[in-house]
Amino acid sequence: MKALIDQLEHRHEMSREEWITLLQARSPELEQELFSRARAVRRRYYGDRVFIRGLIEFTNHCKNDCYYCGLRRSNLHLQRYRLSRQEILACCREGYDLGYRTFVLQGGEDPAWTPDKIADLVAAIKAAHPDCAVTLSVGEQPRAVYQLWFDAGADRYLLRQETADNAHYHQLHPPELSPENRKHCLWDLKAIGYQVGCGFMVGSPGQTEAQLAEDMLFIRQLEPDMVGIGPFLPQHDTPFRDKPAGDLHLTLFLLGLLRLMLPNVLLPATTALATLDPKGRELGILAGANVCMPNLSPPGVRDKYALYDNKACTGDEAAQSRRSLERRMQAIGCQVVVDRGDHISL
Ligand code: 5AD
Repeated sequence: MKALIDQLEHRHEMSREEWITLLQARSPELEQELFSRARAVRRRYYGDRVFIRGLIEFTNHCKNDCYYCGLRRSNLHLQRYRLSRQEILACCREGYDLGYRTFVLQGGEDPAWTPDKIADLVAAIKAAHPDCAVTLSVGEQPRAVYQLWFDAGADRYLLRQETADNAHYHQLHPPELSPENRKHCLWDLKAIGYQVGCGFMVGSPGQTEAQLAEDMLFIRQLEPDMVGIGPFLPQHDTPFRDKPAGDLHLTLFLLGLLRLMLPNVLLPATTALATLDPKGRELGILAGANVCMPNLSPPGVRDKYALYDNKACTGDEAAQSRRSLERRMQAIGCQVVVDRGDHISL
């Protein structure tokens, strides 16, 4: 199996079958070998620096009905909220003072936040904080809308493909959503010039190793600047409420593989990982990740952004706990830095 890891590290193509073989061969020994190589690769490009992003969950209204997500429109138990432009700008000011130089505006696909309003918001944030990057994560849009936001100053865009396997995509989403459009959006974003992030849930219902292999092949082809992965976690008001959560070790293994496949990728240790395990952030970093995205939303709305149950959003998941995050990262040999944390090209 080390031969396959070598192959990956030396940027050789891997076939679907080879990916499946590698995923099936996961063992504690192979994990340790992979993680130590992944850390060495990360160090080569980013040193021991960990980038932080302030995550602002600015609306939990969503017109979509994804089977896994607590924000789905059919969830009538969720108290909906929408931050105002002024509230979002106040979050950015607070975040700036805490040392954040990237703001991630994430929300459901909320028709009340029209393309023009979002463009105006992006421009206002960039005017107030010209040394900061703005990342948008608001779903599927026509190319012209992505272009409008890019022209307003948005730097990056996060849109997980969720699963690159078309049949699996349909098991997770209602018929009006299509994997073709999802992928099309990612190519549009890249063509426009965004730093692009894709990603997938690990252990989502019905997922097989062959489908994970499909995700790795797709990511290799897209060559994104960022990849966000985290375990699937059930949410009690969704059709997947009784499905088991994704596996911690598999998630970490995939983080390590992503680091080897895309050596300079920006790779977050995600909130879902931190929710699954109290040491999730550290374990993610030790597997090759180099980004943390603490929550910068106003405390009163954090529990309403209920993607999944028990979402970690207090304590060290809060942007306000930067010092504590710093200590935790130092304890594993990493430094949290005040920096935009842009993707560096090879
Ligand atoms: N478990 C884990 N991740 C989830 N997401 C949405 N719902 C869940 C869930 N139940 C992830 C999706 C989405 C991101 C914002 O949150 O991958 O892209």
